[in-house]
Amino acid sequence: MNRRYRKTIIAGNWKMNKTPKEARALVEELRPLIAKAKWCTTVLCVPFVDISAALKATRATKIAIGAQNLYYEPAGAYTGEVSASMLAEMGVKYVIVGHSERRALFGDTDVIVNKKVHAALNAGLKPIICVGESLEEREQDVTAEVIRKQVKIALMGVTADQIRKLVIAYEPIWAIGTGKTATVEQAGAVCTLIRDTVRELFGARAARSLTIQYGGSMNEKNAAALLAELNIDGGLIGGASLKPESFKAIVDAANQ
Ligand code: PGA
Repeated sequence: MNRRYRKTIIAGNWKMNKTPKEARALVEELRPLIAKAKWCTTVLCVPFVDISAALKATRATKIAIGAQNLYYEPAGAYTGEVSASMLAEMGVKYVIVGHSERRALFGDTDVIVNKKVHAALNAGLKPIICVGESLEEREQDVTAEVIRKQVKIALMGVTADQIRKLVIAYEPIWAIGTGKTATVEQAGAVCTLIRDTVRELFGARAARSLTIQYGGSMNEKNAAALLAELNIDGGLIGGASLKPESFKAIVDAANQ
């Protein structure tokens, strides 16, 4: 991570876990543990129905609340969907876009991800854009092509000035929820490739300002080594974000 140019961000992705009551209890448990984070921004990306409880429980703290998805249209006949302005008005600051579970299970394509990125930015939300290769793609040695394509399409039509208002999370699909973490070298290499791609598209200044997270079985044991990489500026944490002591240890590692 390189704090001189960009933010370090540790974000929890709770996925489809915790009812509003449980969310409040978990945030209250987490609050004293992560409240002192000075050098990194902490974000909790919670289910839609938990946003209100999470916002209340983090009032007057520096912990930001994020959502895990949004729909790109501003309003209309889209039963079951939630717009960017609905989230922004509630006080949500971040939104995960294009998580591999949404790409695999709910049809989020690269083009849809791009539309969601624009919807988020236009509403003043910071999108956390997830990219990552499957095991087959890594084994066929096409990781670089896959990542470059995902990044380029996700960022179509975005301006150089908007790059510092978004986050890219590199999440190899084979490492998510599997307990298999990418090695520091693998994660570092892809995060460097992401920054190089953004530099090609938007120039050196924009590339320097971009926060790039690693995600995929990040935990209290491997966080410090991953975060020591020059091009890894934080983490997107699934399983370990539901365990207060583990999440605290990751936030502490980012605060070193
Ligand atoms: P994990 O999930 O930390 O449980 O692997 C990460 C993610 O899906 O964002």
